[in-house]
Amino acid sequence: MLASYGQDWTRFASPAPTAIVFPRSSTEIAAIVHHARNHKLALVPSGGRTGLSGGAVAANGEVVVSLDKMNTVSDVNLIDRTITVGAGAITQQIQEAASAAGLFYPVDFASSGSSQIGGNIATNAGGINVIRYGMTREWVAGLTVVTGAGDIIELNKGLVKNNTGLDFRHLFIGSEGILGFIVEATLKLCAPPKDPIVMVLGLSDMSAIMAVLERIQSATPLLAYEFFSELAVTKVVEHAGVARPFATVTPFYALIEFERNDEQTEVDVFEAVENCMERGWVKDAVMSQSVAQARALWRLREDISETLTRWTPYKNDISSTVSKVPILLASVDAVVHERYPDWEVVWYGHIGDGNLHLNILKPEDLDIAEFKARCNTVSIDIFEAIQTLGGSVSAEHGVGTLKAPYLAYTKSESEIAAMRAVKAIFDPDGVLNPGKVFATP
Ligand code: MLT
Ligand code: ZN
Repeated sequence: MLASYGQDWTRFASPAPTAIVFPRSSTEIAAIVHHARNHKLALVPSGGRTGLSGGAVAANGEVVVSLDKMNTVSDVNLIDRTITVGAGAITQQIQEAASAAGLFYPVDFASSGSSQIGGNIATNAGGINVIRYGMTREWVAGLTVVTGAGDIIELNKGLVKNNTGLDFRHLFIGSEGILGFIVEATLKLCAPPKDPIVMVLGLSDMSAIMAVLERIQSATPLLAYEFFSELAVTKVVEHAGVARPFATVTPFYALIEFERNDEQTEVDVFEAVENCMERGWVKDAVMSQSVAQARALWRLREDISETLTRWTPYKNDISSTVSKVPILLASVDAVVHERYPDWEVVWYGHIGDGNLHLNILKPEDLDIAEFKARCNTVSIDIFEAIQTLGGSVSAEHGVGTLKAPYLAYTKSESEIAAMRAVKAIFDPDGVLNPGKVFATP
């Protein structure tokens, strides 16, 4: 149990927590914080532990504070269009509660069946619908937090309008447990998308990716625009039992999702796809004819991450503005080709919002520490390219421990100094999640 609660989905550190505690209320968490301050203990806030940057790892004798028992899900408030949930509520449970009330919680990703909302908020989770609905931040109307000083504070209280100075809610969203514990959240809900249709397109090459996005987006607003490489497809077909979308093999694929508002939408999208085919960007295409088929097509994308875990992948989760993605892709691709000629490198991502996932698979015979060290050196080249483009070294997975040494490629010195000063206000004794986000205390 200590091992399981001491790690997340990254596998580069050995878990070694001293204890795990399971508080049931904000008051209990406040008491734990006061105890930690008095006894100089380090606390690691812990949700579903599906993180990919080591943000919930306890590898140095910390006390893990699990939010598992604080998992209430309120009734949906149909007038406010909100739901109030404990930090330990599972994302999928919230989606289902919204759906049962005829509404929609739009933040979604492959780990929604086990990730907890507190962790989603602490990492400002993104996922597959960001192109339409934005990140978790957009959906948080109110938060209750327990700070590292042991104070219980309510932030924004579910209000739509509240211009009363600084909105600390947004400081806690994405703060990765370094300022306080997220204990409860009021989430906004919206109307569900109408009759979503999924298409998978086989792309001629990397440069077609953004050209196709532009063309299709001019036909209809998209719910999702994801991409993945042929190697990703090979892996999910072999190891997850997913069917190929069509017989044609292409180097890259795009998965698009859109609402069938009326028959004209379909005609417009067909025309756009045909146009992309005439230009040679799209080589083959398939469109879902049922909800089951749409789900099956989504598995080509959604099953990639879990399938790759057997190779202990080194993950780069990077972004640029959407318009700069072609340059980002070209420069990162050049680095990868030069530095990993013999290693398997799998590309996929939420390319419609500028987010690229680059996974380097560990060769079987290579020691894990050596593998990580070699990947780290190459990452520097990638991060330099990102810095030049004004992009981010962590688009949606967070900084955690894995990206902490590289924070300065995205944040300026003065921003990092201000971040440290903010931490000192909310966590004066540094008891919360030490070693995360900042490389050194
Ligand atoms: C995904 O997009 O599949 C997730 O961010 C997880 C991953 O990058 O492996
Ligand atoms: Zn992702």
